[in-house]
Amino acid sequence: MIYIGIDLGTSGVKLLAMNETGAVLHTVTREYPLLFPKPGWSEQEPAHWYEESIAGLAQLLQHVDASQVAGISFGGQMHGLVILDERDEVIRPAILWNDGRTEKQVAYLNEVIGKEALSKYTGNIAFAGFTAPKLLWVYENEPENFARIRKIMLPKDYLAYRLCGNHCTDYSDASGMLLLDVANKCWSEEMLSICHVTREQMPTLYESYEKVGVLKPELAKDLGLSERCVIAAGGGDNAAAAVGTGAVKAGSCNISLGTSGTIFIPNDAFTVDGQNALHSFVHANGKFHLMGCILSAASCNKWWMEDILGASDFAKEQETITQLGENRVFFMPYLMGERSPHNDASVRGAFVGLSLDTKRADMVQAVFEGVAFAMRDCLEVAKSQGIEITQATICGGGARSGLWRSIMANILGISIVTVQTEQGPSYGGAMLAAVACGQYETVEKAAEAIVRYTETILPEPELVLKYEARYQQYRRLYPMMNSFYREAE
Ligand code: XUL
Repeated sequence: MIYIGIDLGTSGVKLLAMNETGAVLHTVTREYPLLFPKPGWSEQEPAHWYEESIAGLAQLLQHVDASQVAGISFGGQMHGLVILDERDEVIRPAILWNDGRTEKQVAYLNEVIGKEALSKYTGNIAFAGFTAPKLLWVYENEPENFARIRKIMLPKDYLAYRLCGNHCTDYSDASGMLLLDVANKCWSEEMLSICHVTREQMPTLYESYEKVGVLKPELAKDLGLSERCVIAAGGGDNAAAAVGTGAVKAGSCNISLGTSGTIFIPNDAFTVDGQNALHSFVHANGKFHLMGCILSAASCNKWWMEDILGASDFAKEQETITQLGENRVFFMPYLMGERSPHNDASVRGAFVGLSLDTKRADMVQAVFEGVAFAMRDCLEVAKSQGIEITQATICGGGARSGLWRSIMANILGISIVTVQTEQGPSYGGAMLAAVACGQYETVEKAAEAIVRYTETILPEPELVLKYEARYQQYRRLYPMMNSFYREAE
């Protein structure tokens, strides 16, 4: 049997077909535009997601036996607000996870409703990218659009709806809406009422590994797939990536260096950190996790390489970097503001410490290091909660760079483990489809049977010490920058 995972990402959609033992048969990537209609805003057209996913499926199926495809599932960019009218048509472009327009609504939720109440209702506080503040933004700024809302959906759920006709979501992705009572796995009546929406406007909740329908007959015919092809709910991209890297048990950890950077810490029971600086969400295996998310990770490198340096050979730019732990240039990766742990939509990126002898390579290196320092800020919150992390798997585009993996190991002071397939969310999506089809009894059993580790990078004590001193310098920068942006407002 063949299972397809669709990673509905921010830069594009990645599709992966695997067989029942987890061997990757083929992958396809197709890009779509990311729109920045105003500074700090970030939107995408759901129609592009659908069109490119269908084109990607057709392309993928040229390389595998379509008659063997038993199921399709997803890992999707989280938090995006998709609103549908009474004819199930998209009302406005989706507002994405890295959009920073909702500062006012976030302040209202955190300060007027109050963090304590939010944490009680949902297990989380408000961050600019979450879905609830976006709903409030539409309510306040586009009342005519708000009045037309019949269904509220997340990105991958819109795709699932187009494939099988069910308005569904899964608990891991729904956790990031700030509308779900995460501990009790149900919609929070209080939050729905605060956001002026009703339960009927919300999608039906499923576990990530549950079947939500079958492929629509006309699509099955067009694509040459069986009408019995199962559509499974899938997960938020980080939960799906954790499945794809085998981070499904308490004590494990996965780091994703994609457009965003996340540190994902599975837990058997629901917990919150004291400050709610980490997100407390449901995992795709039905249990829970804590997660820190920085808004710009591999996207910093892509921006620096392509948009600023005009370089396409990323590996070549890294060749001359051999001296770690001694860079005098710092990079603050806040290109779209920052989520964890600062929760600050108006801060912006910066290079600090430039001098006439600064070289291009120092700045390339500083970008890698700055992202790792920002991830370390998240790790510090986890440590302050008594969570001990000594090693993590790694996935996402950034994980392909050996240099970056080594910088991560030494700045975080933990072992970094690579997996055979670093395509976290699409691989995890395919695994969730396999569980929904009964190929594996549980997500844990699928991970045990499928995920293979390839290499462990150990932190080097001398470098860890050098980077510790650098990190202590780095963490003094944000408070200084914060006042700069406050005064600029
Ligand atoms: C997680 C988050 C990002 C997106 C990226 O909370 O916002 O990791 O899911 O696609």
